[in-house]
This record gives sequence, C-alpha cells and structure tokens, in this order.
Amino acid sequence: MSEKKKLTTASGRPYVENEDSLTVGRRGPILLEDYVLHEKMAHFNRERIPERVVHAKGSGAFGTFTVTHDITKYTKAKMFSTVGKKTDMLARFSTVGGEKGSADTERDPRGFALKFYTEDGNWDLVGNNTPVFFVKDPKKFSDFIHTQKRHPFTNMKSPTMMWDFWSLNPESLHQVLILMSDRGTPFGYRHMNGYGSHTYSLINANNERHYVKFHFKTDQGIKNFNDAEATKMKGENPDFAQQDLIEHIENGNYPKWNLKIQVMTEEEARNYKWNPFDLSKVWPHGDFPLIDVGVMELNKNADNYFAQIEQSAFAPAHIVDGVGYSPDKMLQGRLLSYPDAHRYRLGVNYEQIPVNRCPYAVNNYERDGFMRVDGNQGRAENYFPNSFDDIKVDEDYKLKSPEVNDASADWYDRNSAAANENDHYTQPGNLYRIMSDQAKTNLINNTVGAMSGIEGPKKEEITKRQLAHWYKADEELGRRIAEGLGVNM
Ligand code: HEM
Repeated sequence: MSEKKKLTTASGRPYVENEDSLTVGRRGPILLEDYVLHEKMAHFNRERIPERVVHAKGSGAFGTFTVTHDITKYTKAKMFSTVGKKTDMLARFSTVGGEKGSADTERDPRGFALKFYTEDGNWDLVGNNTPVFFVKDPKKFSDFIHTQKRHPFTNMKSPTMMWDFWSLNPESLHQVLILMSDRGTPFGYRHMNGYGSHTYSLINANNERHYVKFHFKTDQGIKNFNDAEATKMKGENPDFAQQDLIEHIENGNYPKWNLKIQVMTEEEARNYKWNPFDLSKVWPHGDFPLIDVGVMELNKNADNYFAQIEQSAFAPAHIVDGVGYSPDKMLQGRLLSYPDAHRYRLGVNYEQIPVNRCPYAVNNYERDGFMRVDGNQGRAENYFPNSFDDIKVDEDYKLKSPEVNDASADWYDRNSAAANENDHYTQPGNLYRIMSDQAKTNLINNTVGAMSGIEGPKKEEITKRQLAHWYKADEELGRRIAEGLGVNM
C-alpha cells in the first residue's frame, strides 16, 4: 500500500487540528491564532464564482472528432486535412434560462458548445440544439433574455413577459415553434442534434470562401420528453441530463454525433431568396443538401466538474485558419460578448486555465494580470517588434478580408419589408406542415399550456397578438391553438 499523503494547509504546512478549534479552556472562546480555522472558512466563502449569465446549468465531457469525408475543397483547416484525422475536443451542453441548480428538463433550447483543440488553436463552435434563434440583432439579446429569467418584482418566471416579447417580435416565431414542440424538452443531451446555427465561412487553400452551416446529427436518434414527462422529471430528478450523460460515458456507451455541412457559394449568398445571414431562417436542405464530414464521440468524463466544465469558456470569436465569420449580425455581436463574459466570470487570464488552454502553441506579448499562473513567458520580451525573440508573424495565416455589401453606415431595420427581411411566417409554417399528426398535436397542446400562463391586464392583447402570428404561419395551427385557449378568432 502506498504511503498516505500528509494533511497540509494551503501553504503546505502539515497539520493535525482539522476538526477542533483552538479555545481558551474546554468551554471558552476561540483564539485568533487558529489560522487553519480562518483559512478553511475564508476559502469556503470564496468557492462561488459568477454563474454564466445564460446557460448556467450544464454538463460536459471530452471526446474525439474524426474526419470521415474529404472537405478540403472547402477548407484548409488542419483539423479537416485528411480522412481519418482525429482531434481532441470538449463538449458542454446546457439549458439556457435557468440558474446553475435548475432542472435539466425545463422547456428551453439546449446549448451545444464545442471546443476542438486543433494545431492552429482552439476552435469553439458555440451552438444550440436548434438551427435558428429568437432574435436577429444582438442589440435585442439582453431584452430577450430578461424575459426568460425572473420578473424584477415577483422574482418568478413569467409567461406573460415571454409571450409579450415574442408576440412583439415576430422574428422569434420560428424558434418559438421549435421550442413549443417536443424538441423543447429533449430526453437528456445524447438524443438531440447540435447546430452551429449561424452562417460561418470556410476558406480553402486557394483562399476561396464558401458560406457554411454546421449540423451535428445525433447517432443515438432524436428522443424527447413530452410535456407531462418533462414536468414530472423536474421533480424526480432535476439532474436527469447530467446523470444520463455521465453514466453512459462511464459505462463505455459513448454518444456520437455525425457532422454534416451545408455549403453556399458567395454568388448564391448574394442572390438567395432569404438573407443567408439571418439567424431566424434555415437554409432548406432541398436547396443546400447536407454533406458528410466526420463523427464526434464523447468518451471521457471530466474528473472534476468545476475545474473542467464550470471553468470552460467557449467563444464564437475563437476560429482557426480555414474557418471564418460571416456578416450574421448575431454572430458579430457574439464575437464581442463571450470573451468579455469570460473575463468577468473567470478573469483576464481565463485562457490559461488548463481546460481552455491551447495544448499547442501560445506566443504573444500579453502579460501579467490577475491569476497569471503559467510563468508569464519568463524572460521573453513583452513588446513587438523586437530584436531578440524567435516569434514570427506567419503570412500564410492572413485572414481573407470580409465581404461588405452596403457602403453606408446606418441603423438598418432588421425587418425591412423593402429589403424582403420581414417574412417571419413561411419557414415556421413549412416546419409545422411537415410534422407528423402526433407532433402537431403535442406542439399545439404544449403551446396552449404555455400561453395559458399569460395573465394580468394585457392578457387578451398579448394572447391575440401571438395568435395572429401562429395563424399567419399556418391557418390550421392558429385555429387549433385559439380553440385550445378558448379564444374566438
Ligand atoms: C447576440 C446574441 C448572444 C449573446 C450576446 C450571447 C451571450 C452569451 C453569454 C454572455 C454567455 C455566457 C458565457 C460564459 O459566461 O461563459 C452565453 C453562453 C452561451 N451561449 Fe450565447 N449569446 C447569444 C446568442 C447565442 C446563440 C445564437 C447561441 C446558439 C446558436 C448561443 C449559445 C450559447 C451557448 C451554447 C452558451 C453556453 C456556452 C458554455 O457551455 O459555456 N448564444 N451566451
């Protein structure tokens, strides 16, 4: 048997008195001198860090991405350079609106955040289990999220706030329809798809750009709770998804997702009937078929949840050579938001936390700051250019310049009719019409249940405004929800 380790203070001093405080006499007060007592209490008081402002409740695991099909005609990203190539990765799944201790089976989109540890840096693809989103301008994000969190007066979730916002923002209809379907309550994290959601770019070796959507299709098959099952599970096991994921991986039953892409040329993007950078729209598969790329497998649980999952930090800004952004306004907003959130939540040196650190090379002139724990690049020069170090700027990595369409700056109406940006109804209607009868019925029942929570003096106004949106998407859908609510349209 190996020799046991000595119990020590944080500074490494072996000590014995871990349970009894130092007191004056058996029944007397504690002496200031019991430093170990201070250390234990002080450290405990500082155990909490801010939870993520959204997506606070989550689960994660490590895994491998393997390329199965050649997409080098679209991208020079090293991760996709050869069929069979494997890249280590991390995934974190989450609900959106609830706090860190909230139930896993809430009706909510699910986060699907991935970090690929590539030779050219960490590539983060921070998506959801839905291909679209509620709003299409980042200026609207905080207003939207406030409606998903607690009401400032009641400190409770408020269906009235939610439906008020959605009914006033018809661009949300597509995502709301998915949310109200049984896909809004997935059976844990293994049985759902993941989507990069935004349009990104792929850049190939000839520096040509294609626009791309990323889809991770679950190999386990789609499986959802219905509304009643999800509600029941909230009480029985609020950590259902965490338990499901960790246990399957621990038992060697590794979940897999197949990565597929949709590709659009720059020319097609200019002429497509819908704005290809509008996050409230999908690219129909009939127009842009799915192309196989590879498979992601989660095969290793984190050894320590706080160190590796809570401290993980994903940022859409983190792309790698061969992958680029797009003019999607929401993506542009997110490029700023996430690193800012990480600096607040984890500190300015969050990239050095082992789970976030690029395992290959990090060379630059950023120094110092709170919790700089990696040696701070030692004796190396901290300015650029200099005559001493061996860091070079490699021109091969020059970014392809972004394409800019409108020459004049303005606050363009995101829903302009003249620019054909106000069709909020065709795609949700199409989605409804391809659903099975059972899926339609569940969607309608779930929606009726959720809209029944609207209350207060504006109840009728909000309800009717939202019913009009359902109706515009599909007459039958609008009628059936209205009937369920007992409203005469
Ligand atoms: C302008 C729009 C958005 C803003 C400003 C925004 C902002 C944020 C912020 C501040 C966080 C917390 C980050 C942290 O503390 O680590 C977060 C987390 C997250 N967001 Fe967004 N978000 C936006 C839209 C979206 C969209 C469209 C998606 C999916 C397509 C998405 C997916 C996620 C995911 C998956 C996480 C959790 C990442 C993790 O597991 O650590 N967000 N978002």
